[in-house]
Amino acid sequence: MGLRVAVAGASGYAGGEILRLAAAHPDFDVITVTGHASVGRSLSEVQPHLRSIGHLNLQETSAAVLRDHDVVFLALPHGRSGALSDELPDVPLIVDAGADHRLTDTDDWAAYYSGDWHGAWTCGIPELPTAHGRQRDALVGARRIAAPGCNASAVSLALAPAIAAGLVHAGDLVSVLAVGPSGAGRVLRDDLLAAELLGSAHAYAVGGIHRHTPEILQNLALVTGRRGTLSFTPVLVPMARGVLATSTARLTDGTDEQAVREAYRTAYGDERFVHLTGPGVFPAVQHVLGSNTVAIGLAIDRRAGRLVTVAALDNLVKGTAGAAVQSANIALGLDEAAGLAVDGVAP
Ligand SMILES: NC(=O)c1ccc[n+]([C@@H]2O[C@H](COP(=O)([O-])OP(=O)(O)OC[C@H]3O[C@@H](n4cnc5c(N)ncnc54)[C@H](OP(=O)(O)O)[C@@H]3O)[C@@H](O)[C@H]2O)c1
Repeated sequence: MGLRVAVAGASGYAGGEILRLAAAHPDFDVITVTGHASVGRSLSEVQPHLRSIGHLNLQETSAAVLRDHDVVFLALPHGRSGALSDELPDVPLIVDAGADHRLTDTDDWAAYYSGDWHGAWTCGIPELPTAHGRQRDALVGARRIAAPGCNASAVSLALAPAIAAGLVHAGDLVSVLAVGPSGAGRVLRDDLLAAELLGSAHAYAVGGIHRHTPEILQNLALVTGRRGTLSFTPVLVPMARGVLATSTARLTDGTDEQAVREAYRTAYGDERFVHLTGPGVFPAVQHVLGSNTVAIGLAIDRRAGRLVTVAALDNLVKGTAGAAVQSANIALGLDEAAGLAVDGVAP
């Protein structure tokens, strides 16, 4: 018998992906799944690809249902995890895939979200460079983990080593990021309809208003303690899943490509789930789908005086469920890679 695992929000995209990974995890037994509108339905109806646990029925998302577990993964709309987790003080480990426990600054919370702030949990990006080492160190033994936003993971991991090494100005960061519609969840919305999306692409949350902006700046400040400035623009594109982030930063005087490559090798050379592509090679979304890998390509734009990074990840794996499971593995003292794949699926 493994650890008793519950997944709340099991009928959604993030919850479904957490379930896919947890069902194959050698130390986890998924015993409880919860939903909202789908309560009473079987998992085989709402997530038919999850055959091995299709017999489970969706229960209501409540503290009473979630209480008696070793690990609870929350994959709920933002604003739904905070109060619920307050009612689960005795659950040894809770990992929240939502935003409720990500932001440390109450002003950020008030500016980008609404409702009560329920406190910040340990950030679930193990590879992220921090002032003292890696975010992994903070996850050891953690009991409450905030899994990262998918866009925030891609941009933070792509820029952090350069900022940590002083190779770029953290006050001049620009990121434009393509993301597929699964990033918005399994919801009915006009802009997510096939007829609106296929054959098109459109920017949204333009002008510094996307909710992952303060999260990225918070992650990058883990390195220097100082908050930078980022112009962040997401673009919705017709791919079911995946993120491709092109993030650039103004170079500090004297920075050359060799220094950049050395800094990224130092930061990520030993990381199983970070792949640095070689000179002139840039990752595509298709290279990472289904895997817990983030692939990062680097270039120096000499004329513009900027570092250019291109990062690809699967928003539902490295951008959510994979990060959640990887962080839980670290917190629980398990093999960090348990249940996680470095290889993707293609085409
Ligand atoms: N999608 C991504 O790429 C991604 C990446 C990183 C983080 N996240 C975060 O993960 C969380 C879930 O996202 P998602 O994309 O999986 O959304 P989703 O596909 O819309 O799923 C939402 C889930 O929450 C349940 N739910 C809806 N309203 C609820 C309520 N009032 N109370 C309790 N449960 C409710 C839904 O249940 P029913 O279906 O039964 O109504 C469903 O299981 C969000 O906070 C999101 O920001 C998502």
